[in-house]
Amino acid sequence: MSFDLVFFGGTGDLTWRKLMPALFQAFRHGKLPAGGRILAVAREERSDADYRQFIAERFAEVDRSKQPSAEEFARFAELLHYRRMDLAQPDDYAGLADCLRERGADTVVLYLATSPHLFPVICEQLGRAGLNAPHVRVVLEKPLGHDLASAQEINRVVRSVFTENQALRIDHYLGKPSVQNLSALRFANALFEPLWRRESIANIQITLAESLGVGTRGDFYDRTGALRDMIQNHALQLLTMIAMEPPATGDADAIRDEKLKVLKSLRPFTPESVARDVLRGQYRAGNIGGQPVPGYLDEQKVPPGSHCETFVALRTEVQNWRWAGVPFYLRTGKRLAARDAQIVVNFRPVPHPIFPGAHRANQLVIKLQPEDGLELRLLAAKGSGVGESLAPVSLDLDFDRAFPSERVGAYERLLLDAIAGRLNLFVRSDEQEQAWRWVEPILDAWSREREQHGEGPRGYAAGTWGPAAASALVARDGNAWSEEQ
Ligand code: BG6
Repeated sequence: MSFDLVFFGGTGDLTWRKLMPALFQAFRHGKLPAGGRILAVAREERSDADYRQFIAERFAEVDRSKQPSAEEFARFAELLHYRRMDLAQPDDYAGLADCLRERGADTVVLYLATSPHLFPVICEQLGRAGLNAPHVRVVLEKPLGHDLASAQEINRVVRSVFTENQALRIDHYLGKPSVQNLSALRFANALFEPLWRRESIANIQITLAESLGVGTRGDFYDRTGALRDMIQNHALQLLTMIAMEPPATGDADAIRDEKLKVLKSLRPFTPESVARDVLRGQYRAGNIGGQPVPGYLDEQKVPPGSHCETFVALRTEVQNWRWAGVPFYLRTGKRLAARDAQIVVNFRPVPHPIFPGAHRANQLVIKLQPEDGLELRLLAAKGSGVGESLAPVSLDLDFDRAFPSERVGAYERLLLDAIAGRLNLFVRSDEQEQAWRWVEPILDAWSREREQHGEGPRGYAAGTWGPAAASALVARDGNAWSEEQ
């Protein structure tokens, strides 16, 4: 199957930092279909050779452990082409359409790795240039809008040009191998599903912690904040995968229908519940790995006195028969104690203990980062039988070791799916809008607090697990975050 993969924003950060390395890995693993062309478009004048050189230099910055040899890069580089394009110029879209038509690939994937405010204008121009035929798909990177209204407006324009199945909204967390395994764990194994409900599960915690700060992205981040950057998309997508009902089939829409139902079942926030159940923080100076790091307000391009949140912890519930009353705690932050993304399913304790000593309940930990695995924490008798003291033990599954040659990175997986037209791991517009609908009362409450009381996020020292109040949020229910247990 021949394909053309076109990157708008072909010299931008996302393209060289994430997309090109992912494509190279797909190429190296022999997974990229033959007959492909990768076409980067951007405003500057460059030749193909200049562009290949540009990518070669960037590769050296990205991940030294995965560096291609010169010969390997030269073979990959044959796929890379460059085209100058001014995104405001209709003629340039017509030129691109001619260039693509001439080659006549079976599939054309147009990846918008540009600033999202350009999505509507690019889509309109693509439509006018006839670049919306059925063999064309468009890939949209987050953030898709900054609130419900702006997301709906982007979707309105996208839908006026492309069908729903032609528009692929990326959430790269869905491409992570452990998220794939979450579906397999739940729907390919009979073991957990009978326990996957309020009768057996006490609470669920989703933590997306980063030790990095905002780096050089201070201006983007300050307009975004942790709620829009991580909760509205990544954390909620993980929550849907955990909480969804088994879909009737493995089809994209069967899965996405079930995910949408979860989003619609989330308890809606009111101003009172935002004040009670949502906490935001902002990092101050501190230490990461023994090194001093500056506070958020001292990062490059961050406006003085910013109230932007770099940490969010919240409590919610999925209001349906399966999950009624089970707290779901979501938390994310920059400059936290560790880079650690995981979902912890805390089971209920045994109803009647017969062993002496403290009883820890079972835990299932789905690890997304830094390693990719699954850990089931059980209690075992250290000696033999009743009367002996218990000790926690883990069944620990390391997917990288279990399938050493099969693991593919998130962007690699999603790019291959976009080329093949597999839609399961892309977010449908109604899911995305529902997620905005749910976070919007939080955004509203925060802007009211700011206007009326000048209130901002609570400070936390870099290198910690966020404001102390985050512990109180779960302690109120008699629970504790996994690192405190
Ligand atoms: C992106 C956010 O979507 O995800 C970044 O914009 C964040 O702020 C990144 O750092 C985290 O992704 P990962 O895969 O490194 O956990």
